Amino acid sequence: MDDRTAADGAPRDRAGPGPDEVRDALRDVVDPELHESIVELGMVRRVDVVDGTARIEVALTIAACPLRHQIRDDVDGRVRAIPGIDGVEVTIGTMDAAERAALMSRARRAAQQSAVATDLPASARVLGVVSGKGGVGKSSVAVNVAVALATRGLRVGLLDADIWGFSVPRMLGLEGPLAVSEGKIRPVERRAGAGLVKVVSMGFLSGEDDAIMWRGLVLNRAVQHFLEDVAWGGLDYLVVDLPPGTGDVQMGLARMLPRAELLVVTTPGLAAQKVAGRAADMARKSHLRVAGVVENMSGFTCAHGEHYPLFGVGGGERLAREIGAPLIGRVPLDPRMARGGDTGEPAALDPTSPLAAVFAAIAGKIATEIAPVVAMGGCSARLFERVEAALGASR
Ligand SMILES: Nc1ncnc2c1ncn2[C@@H]1O[C@H](COP(=O)(O)OP(=O)(O)OP(=O)(O)O)[C@@H](O)[C@H]1O
Ligand SMILES: [Mg+2]
Repeated sequence: MDDRTAADGAPRDRAGPGPDEVRDALRDVVDPELHESIVELGMVRRVDVVDGTARIEVALTIAACPLRHQIRDDVDGRVRAIPGIDGVEVTIGTMDAAERAALMSRARRAAQQSAVATDLPASARVLGVVSGKGGVGKSSVAVNVAVALATRGLRVGLLDADIWGFSVPRMLGLEGPLAVSEGKIRPVERRAGAGLVKVVSMGFLSGEDDAIMWRGLVLNRAVQHFLEDVAWGGLDYLVVDLPPGTGDVQMGLARMLPRAELLVVTTPGLAAQKVAGRAADMARKSHLRVAGVVENMSGFTCAHGEHYPLFGVGGGERLAREIGAPLIGRVPLDPRMARGGDTGEPAALDPTSPLAAVFAAIAGKIATEIAPVVAMGGCSARLFERVEAALGASR
């Protein structure tokens, strides 16, 4: 410690601004990822002011946080603007595991405050099915994962958040309308083995008077409506089928359900870096954890046993490696998948189809191997860092 400061870090020279003024000013510096003040998040480790020079130590969640320069500049600029401060020295440190855990629980609490009130049981895990690109089989994977989880004897909600491009009702052979009782929407239910799937989709409202009203809502508001107004009852999982892309609905989900985890669907041939970049960007902005990657349309095996990798090879593995999440399954290209979607009998429920075993294994991994989110999964910049490294390597 500098000999001109007292033991508590306060300056002996009381004429100019002291550490308290500097800390107050730093309340305006917001962590760009966590959207919370760096002071509130406990990232400001130390503040000293000596002869008009402020020395500040900021601890980041990881050493290679890509936002370190931005945070340093924000701190520098904010403190330099305090009258009476003529010099600013910012030291960037790295948090230890305990500091990081405390920060994540603070950020999580802050995020919870903006979460919407839902009828979801606190113990229900939320899995948002996303991809960096449309048409890769998100809805097919969402539906088949949901029924495969249900056949384990679980109660699985399936929220079709693709408001205008809904496909879940057709894929499960379900029709509306959704019943409303005591002011709450009741999901349409379907048994799957020993379990139950409870489905909510815009498709159940089409043709109803309600649909006209709903059509006027912006997408996010419609999803929020579903989340707030559905009486889910008992539920072990909520699978959310998201529209293509990485836009508003995905960010809205992160805001409304900060405990959600992402299941990223890719095809084997997609430019992995491109998809990884988008998925990581989404995870970074939303601080959602990626629970796993599912590779869909992973080659076709003909009746004679010959294997044809029609859409390339290795995309799922590359993507998983690049974003640091497990590859939890490869779903082959199989006409039974499309047929199941068209007839309303998902392939995962057809015991004669090899797809049933594929989805049972995916559901098993989700249920037993991938730990649910109990705290925010570390600096999401970790994802970003890996993607950057991967992109750098391929440049
Ligand atoms: N493994 C597979 N084998 C054969 N056909 C498949 C497979 N997966 C999906 N399909 C078919 O590909 C088409 C697109 O699938 P799906 O609608 O699930 O994709 P999506 O990613 O949800 O699309 P969107 O981005 O439009 O929401 C559907 O006709 C579906 O039946
Ligand atoms: Mg879809």
